[in-house]
Amino acid sequence: MVDRRLDGIELGNVTAENIFSRDGSLLVKEGTIISYELISKLKKHKVNYRDILSEISVANKAEPLIPKEEMVTSIQAVETVFEDIMNPDKLRTESAIPEDNIELVKKVINSLMATLSSKEELLYRLTDVMGVDEYTYRHSVNVTILTILTAKAMGYVEAEIKEIALGALLHDIGKALIPVSLLKKKGRLSPEEIVVMKEHPQLGYDLIKDLHNLPNSVKDIIHLHHEKMDGSGYPNQLCGLEIPRYVRLVTVCDMYDAMTTTRVYRKPMPIHTALEILMKDAVYKLDPEVYRQMTSTICLYPTGMGAILSDGRIGIISKYRHASPTRPIIQLVDFSLELGQVRVDELDLQKEKTLFIVDTWDVNNFNKDFKNLLETHPFYELDEKEQLEYTSSIS
Ligand SMILES: [Fe+2]
Repeated sequence: MVDRRLDGIELGNVTAENIFSRDGSLLVKEGTIISYELISKLKKHKVNYRDILSEISVANKAEPLIPKEEMVTSIQAVETVFEDIMNPDKLRTESAIPEDNIELVKKVINSLMATLSSKEELLYRLTDVMGVDEYTYRHSVNVTILTILTAKAMGYVEAEIKEIALGALLHDIGKALIPVSLLKKKGRLSPEEIVVMKEHPQLGYDLIKDLHNLPNSVKDIIHLHHEKMDGSGYPNQLCGLEIPRYVRLVTVCDMYDAMTTTRVYRKPMPIHTALEILMKDAVYKLDPEVYRQMTSTICLYPTGMGAILSDGRIGIISKYRHASPTRPIIQLVDFSLELGQVRVDELDLQKEKTLFIVDTWDVNNFNKDFKNLLETHPFYELDEKEQLEYTSSIS
């Protein structure tokens, strides 16, 4: 009888990399088709579970929506605009954003829109391609991608989307005038520093308000993207419909990306947690319709992502259902067998209504994330011998 304990590894998929046994000999070459024979070979050799996990993850992983090279080019364009403002020698007195920089960012928008229009998939966590120092630039590009997808879902026409996306790409331009020491501070800002930071929308607007080559919608986004529907935002404490709809759109995307991206001082918030917080805000502070449309473009649990269930079990998302986003199919990974062996069973959260996902982890960051996992989820306890073996198997 065929042992189906390792069913989680999709038969017919190919291995993403060479797999070695514990003594270092090559067991399976990269590009080998996964068969039952291969799985039993892996089991026989007790391949450590890091290999298996990365195997399952790679087999399930969807391609990023925006290729890495395009992300890098887009981020560099934002960097150029910011650096020309930050560097007074470079800054041309006649215009805060010279025409060639405007052309540069418009090209980025066209390219992102073309890439996104050719894809049907949903957006999941945006790629972290740069170091944390470049947060503002990376964040600007992420917000732009999310804005394009949400604006499309909201029915804006292409010409409008281009303008709104340009606003999204430049929305934090005022930060170019905030002291770098504050922007790069490794830790939370003090109340006084927050006051300074909150000047960026007004500083940005003052910088570009007289530019003839930027549409008013872009200027509004730069100026008003921190306003809230209940009047609790800044700089002008506008209320409700006083804030243009396209600004409300960028605000939601801005907040979502800020929460779900890695910062120097904290881990990214899991997508479902960020959405829960935004949903609460969407009642009074944010535009609920924008929130609804934005969430329709986001994949909560992309296939290949690690998940932790409410009963403590650990697994990897293998099938996402857009119609019931919190109820994907999960390949459970059971570590309770002899160390080095992994048992994989499929669990359909649609059928197990009492279970839910409490956290996620990145299979590609296995070493780091799994260590965190052990620290934050003490229900998975290793005895001393296991700990020792575990440590040596992942380091
Ligand atoms: Fe901002």
